[in-house]
Parts: sequence; C-alpha cells; structure tokens
Amino acid sequence: MNKMGINNNFNSKYDYFISFSNKDIEKVNEIVYIIENVYHAKCWFQAKDSKAEFIDTIMEGIENSRSFLVFISPDSANSYFVLNEINHAIEFKEQHDDYNVLPIFITPDIEYTDPVYKRIRFYLGRLNILFLDKMPSLDALVLKIFEQTDFEIDNEKLMDSLYHTSDSEAKRLKAQNEIMKDFSKDFFDDTVKQDSIILDVGCASGDYIISQLQERQYSSLLGIDLDPNQIDCANNLYGSEKNTFICCDVLSNDFDNVLSDYLEDRDSIGFDLIHISSMLLHTAEPVRILRILKRFLKRNGKLFIQDEDDGANLVYPNSKFFDLAFSIWADSKESGDRHCARKIPSYLAEAGYSRVKLAKCGVSNPGMSNEHKSALWDIYFNHYLWIAADKDENMFIHTDITNKLLEEYKTLYEEYKKQYDEGNIFIQLGFFFYIAQK
Ligand SMILES: C[S@@+](CC[C@H](N)C(=O)[O-])C[C@H]1O[C@@H](n2cnc3c(N)ncnc32)[C@H](O)[C@@H]1O
Repeated sequence: MNKMGINNNFNSKYDYFISFSNKDIEKVNEIVYIIENVYHAKCWFQAKDSKAEFIDTIMEGIENSRSFLVFISPDSANSYFVLNEINHAIEFKEQHDDYNVLPIFITPDIEYTDPVYKRIRFYLGRLNILFLDKMPSLDALVLKIFEQTDFEIDNEKLMDSLYHTSDSEAKRLKAQNEIMKDFSKDFFDDTVKQDSIILDVGCASGDYIISQLQERQYSSLLGIDLDPNQIDCANNLYGSEKNTFICCDVLSNDFDNVLSDYLEDRDSIGFDLIHISSMLLHTAEPVRILRILKRFLKRNGKLFIQDEDDGANLVYPNSKFFDLAFSIWADSKESGDRHCARKIPSYLAEAGYSRVKLAKCGVSNPGMSNEHKSALWDIYFNHYLWIAADKDENMFIHTDITNKLLEEYKTLYEEYKKQYDEGNIFIQLGFFFYIAQK
C-alpha cells in the first residue's frame, strides 16, 4: 500500500524496471531473458542505456513498475543516468511502501567496498543487495529476485516455457527437499543439539542438509561430495565458520584424513550425527562406506540414512501413466539402485552396526498442504522438470525405447495432472529413513 492507501500493484503495467549500463548488456540480457521468457514477468527494459531525452518515459517506466532492479558494475555505478534512475526510484519508494528497489551486484572481481562504487553506495544507502557470484546459477538469482520482490510465479505459464536445463533439476530437487524436510523433521528435532557436530556424506550443493539445519542450533557441519562444482556451490551458498564443504570421494584414501583432521581441529572424538541422503543408491560399495563411517561416529551418535525404493511406490487407481513414469525414471542413467532402501538393514548389519531402526517409510499426498502436494507431484511426475526429458542430455540407458515411452507419457500428462490436482489419485513414493547406532 502506498502512503495514500492505494495498492500500487493494481496500477503497475510492469513487474520490473531494469536499470543498467549498456556496457553490461550481455549479462543483463541473459538475466532479463530468464525473467521474461521463462517466468513471464513483464519488464520495462530498454536494451540500451537510458538517455536524458527520454527522461519522462523513464520516470513513467519506473512509476509503472512494481519493482526496480538495478544491476551494479563499475560502469553502472558511475553512470549519470543509472544514478538518476536510482534516485527517482528511491523517491518513489518513499511514497509507496510496496515498491521494491533491489540492487544486484554483477561484477565479482571488484569488491563492493571498492572506491569505484562510492557514489552508488551513497545512493543505495542500506538496501539489501543480491550478489550474482553467490548464486549457483542465473536461474537461482532470478528466483531470489522474485522472492525479494514478492513476485509470484505463474506455474501454468512456467510449464509452457519448456525450460529444460539442469536448473530444472535444481527445481525438482528443491521440491523434493521441501517434502523430505517434513518427512524427517521429528528426527532432527530430537537429535540436533547445540553442541552437535554433523557430517553430511554426498551433500551435493548442501541444500538438503541446510534446509534441515537452518533453523536449529548446532556446533558445526562438514559436507562431503565428490563433485567439485557442487562443493563450490555449497561453499558459496552456505560456507561459514560453522559450515565447511570439502570435495572428496568417500571411497578414496583421503576421506579418512579429511574426517580425522576435521575432528581433531574441533577436539572431538567423533560426529554426533552422520547424515546420508539419496547417496548410497549411487555407490558400488555401500558396506565399505558404512564401515568407514562407523569409526567416526560417537558411541551415542546417530547415523541417518535416507534412500529410495521403487517397490514402495504405490498409486491408486493404477494406470499406464504411472507405470510409464516409473519405467522412464528407472532407465535414467542417474537413477542408481532403485531397490536400495530395502537393502540398507543388511548393509548396516554387515558393516557392524547393532541398533538399527526403520523410522519411516513412504511419503504420500493425503493430508498434505496444496503446496506440498504439488511438490510431491514434481518429484517424479512433472516431465517439464525432468532433465531426463531433454533428449540432448542423453539421460537414458535405452535411449530409443525410453524416448518412445516418454512421448506416450506426455500425451497422457495433462489428464492425470488434472485428476491428481482434483484429489482423485493417491500417491506414495518409496522414501525410507533408517536410524542406526554403533
Ligand atoms: C542424489 S545426490 C543427493 C544429494 C543430497 N544428499 C540430497 O539428498 O539432496 C547424490 C550425491 O552423492 C554424491 N556422491 C556419490 N558418490 C560419492 C562418493 N563416492 N563420494 C562422495 N560423494 C558422492 C554425488 O556427487 C551427488 O552429489
């Protein structure tokens, strides 16, 4: 609401006014492309520097937008036009509480504290800034912009945009994390204490473990993954004095040293919690990994293992559509051992753990919020979010056969999605979690 009680949103022709220097056009274009073409937000974007003779048009553009985005670089920081636009946007914001001004820093090699940014820092004052280099991808930056400016994504339009990139996989995993966070919440409530030292094995970009820990008190977290890009991403997103992410193969000789050094630095004899999620299904030697981990678990520490088993996927009423979905998934090169979860008690016994408990099995839609119901669907059934759907990725083991199944699946998709949204379909996905102790 503005100071006169009028909601600016109703008057806005545009979602975003884009302020930038022409020297940054390539980077800004890439970001605006995603905002406009993937998420269908409307931008006031002159693909050239603002010019003084357009001053009235520019002021109108600023005032007819819900939010003002300014891309900060040494060039824009010293552009007379950009500084004027910021000035006008901030004045407008003073009159309109719901108007957003969001600076986005796009030049990582020069610190924002550098004197080159002195003038723009003065204009922007204490506004929250987003840093492009702290984001794992442009798509993640765009989602953050939306979050900070209260932009609601229109999912139907998103589906139409056919956006098949690995960012789609990130979205699918995000949906999965949302659901799984609830699945094991009670365990984390009981287990994580102020002085807990936690190890996450196969942490990827850290999203999942951090989503479980972020509102809790704990002493420290070590995340391990063999993928250096994921580890970079985890360190950029969550790295801190408390959270360390290290690139290492758990089956390599280094693993032992990494863990020993980490514990020695913290004067600890072991971890209070070792967390492994959706990782054992991807390894050839689960027992060997569990044996190594046992040595690093405190006597009363807990090992948490979450994994999947297609045998516990249940759907009612049955249909070809769901059979197709599970067959397509099972043929993905990245899907791992689809019957892993049922084998975990025997792996644990072989590795010498004694106190083993299956804490929960199966995640299903009844009783879920609408948001979670749709996230549950997205985990396995939203082919718009499958990287497997992108033929160029060559994701399937039997490419020709599975691509044919996928074509058939797509023709049935809308009908079953509608049935699911109307509450006519029961789905249980075969996620399990086990707790074990020494
Ligand atoms: C499906 S992801 C799961 C990520 C995260 N734990 C989650 O639940 O969202 C599996 C991760 O395990 C990692 N991984 C697989 N084998 C590994 C190994 N031998 N050592 C370290 N990481 C491994 C992969 O690189 C990948 O990031």
